Amino acid sequence: MEKKKIALLTSGGDSPGMNCAIRAITRSLLFHNQQPIGVDRGYSGLLEGNFRPLKAADVGNILQLGGTLLRTSRSAEFATPEGRQKAMDQLKQHNIHGLIVIGGDGSYRGAHALWQEHQLPVITLPGTIDNDIEQTEYTIGHDTAVQTAMEAIDRIRDTALSHDRVFFIEVMGRNSSAIALKVGLCTGAENVIEPHADVAYQEIVSGIERGMKRGKVHSIFVVAEGQKAGRSYEIQEKLMQDYQIDSRVCILGHIQRGGSPTAVDRYLASIMGAKAVDCMLNFSGPKAIAMQAGQVVHLPLEKCLQKSSGSDSKTLQLIKEISI
Ligand code: F6P
Repeated sequence: MEKKKIALLTSGGDSPGMNCAIRAITRSLLFHNQQPIGVDRGYSGLLEGNFRPLKAADVGNILQLGGTLLRTSRSAEFATPEGRQKAMDQLKQHNIHGLIVIGGDGSYRGAHALWQEHQLPVITLPGTIDNDIEQTEYTIGHDTAVQTAMEAIDRIRDTALSHDRVFFIEVMGRNSSAIALKVGLCTGAENVIEPHADVAYQEIVSGIERGMKRGKVHSIFVVAEGQKAGRSYEIQEKLMQDYQIDSRVCILGHIQRGGSPTAVDRYLASIMGAKAVDCMLNFSGPKAIAMQAGQVVHLPLEKCLQKSSGSDSKTLQLIKEISI
């Protein structure tokens, strides 16, 4: 096979396991006698021609590290046709044949636009803690984020129990309920407040009172951050004002994006990375790597361009049922 330069980048919010994907992509490309080119700082780096050839040793000892070796960005300029033209000029100047993108739905749309406007071969991998990409059951980093939040909430429960307290614990998910629901179920939360839902105060109060009747003196509510991180403080205030219920708030924030990836994230990122290289080397149109029915598959990229809400009414119902 002719030796070609294939670029790779990480884009959007970083997620644990991105490094495993970078390693798998780089090494698979080298294994197939191709030249991997790392792009520094996502689409911003693409605009600036921030490229460097990667050797096998460059991606050694990163499997266990959170963050992304290639760093990342959210580029407003790349979201414009002019920005993408600039990026394409850089790719042409460096004789780069194709691009592998690890990121969320915004990064997917950017990659798809490069294909549509410039016919650049692109392949995407799902990398976001939010697990909110259409058509895939799993996104790299989600398991680690859930594990991190779960461990934090277990600790908070210790102090909630000691003080007979109500806690609102806010997890990430601007538009996605996925972390909140999984963590809610794993930590025995009374209820989960989804990102787009109106807060059902009466339901919260009834849950607290029901618990008290059976001698339970502490309660945990998991709140997805929604459009405004810190919304839990409004909930806390309203509960005090209207129902005279005292509570505490803990915002877990960016701690959920860091840390060493779990085995699930390392395993899937590695398999997905190798699959992305396979799709690039046998290119037949832009593809997204996904997990469907537990298998790593590829599908046409345009099928994945919507954002999924991560909402799951069955899990929410179960959380309520088994917290009685
Ligand atoms: O990467 C996804 C995510 O972590 C969301 O859950 C969160 O709302 C958002 O990124 C925060 O973005 P930033 O780090 O740019 O504030």
